Amino acid sequence: MLNDLIDSLTAFKHEAEEAVLQAGSEQELEGIRVAFLGKKGKVSDVLKKVGSLTNEERPRLGQSANETKRFLEEIFSKRGAHLALTLKEKKLQSERVDLTLPGRRIPTGSLHPVTTVCEEITKAFIPLGFTVEEGPDIETDFYNFEALNIPKDHPAREMQDTFYLSENFLLRTHTSPVQIRTMEKYSPPLRVLAPGTVYRCDSDVTHTPMFHQVEGFVVDKKVTFAQLKGVLTTFVETIFGAGVQLRFRPSFFPFTEPSAEVDIQCVICGGEGCRVCKSTGWLEILGAGMIDPEVFKAVGYDPDVYSGFAFGMGVERIAMLKYGIKDLRMFFENDVRFLEQF
Ligand code: DAH
Repeated sequence: MLNDLIDSLTAFKHEAEEAVLQAGSEQELEGIRVAFLGKKGKVSDVLKKVGSLTNEERPRLGQSANETKRFLEEIFSKRGAHLALTLKEKKLQSERVDLTLPGRRIPTGSLHPVTTVCEEITKAFIPLGFTVEEGPDIETDFYNFEALNIPKDHPAREMQDTFYLSENFLLRTHTSPVQIRTMEKYSPPLRVLAPGTVYRCDSDVTHTPMFHQVEGFVVDKKVTFAQLKGVLTTFVETIFGAGVQLRFRPSFFPFTEPSAEVDIQCVICGGEGCRVCKSTGWLEILGAGMIDPEVFKAVGYDPDVYSGFAFGMGVERIAMLKYGIKDLRMFFENDVRFLEQF
């Protein structure tokens, strides 16, 4: 009996060795291990028969069973380690990363040149103590015209090519109505900049139905034209570089008196005369003047106490001069090849 049992233990070793070699996965190996070493496995089955042996025989079976167990455990663990390694190698092979491949470029957006220039203009005035105000794109006749001393029959209305939405509502033709809204809201002293979108029924190489302006104005006691000159000179030097000459030409705007148009020395030819400046050496960049007393009356400021200056400029025009862009419409076509250059 003892010898039969020991023989079957020896047979298990061979059987297990063969089965283990066939095992192709860790799960399969675990199945085989349970079949031999599990609670209801083959080795346990043999040990259950210990009761039929004599007292001298029992330790011999025990010894042989332990030795078999050790042997089996070792081959299972060796095969397990081998399978784990193979699996890892396979995984590494299939997941291999080619570090020599070029990276994928993530296309990044950038600010529109009109936005950039608008921000640059605003930034130029911040150190001079200006704050920023905004107004609505849809305006009433009062803010866009009437309060700015442009009555119904005034010829200046024709210059503006207004998009009317109704008798009373329109798309603002300039940022000047923000002057009125701000003065209604606050008392002087005021130093305000108002960038924004404006609309005019006009379209050619130098006009688009929608464009941008920056309005600026100062109201206080004893504001002078000399201060206007100083502020605009600082602004022009910040945007176009130190030493660029300015020229004030007498002009007319209903909301300023006296009024001026401001030219800068041509940034293309430096004043020599070229196609861009039409051989004059000068480029017009903005309108300005001392705020008309009629405007102060419209907002309830006393023109005998307060004076002020105002100016307004086209953002696209400044951007065109700064970057040497010939066609205004480029700004609004959203051609990536154009926009990528900024
Ligand atoms: N609002 C004028 C326009 O759109 C520009 C302008 C001129 C604004 C003179 C001003 C100014 O504030 O003083 O043509």
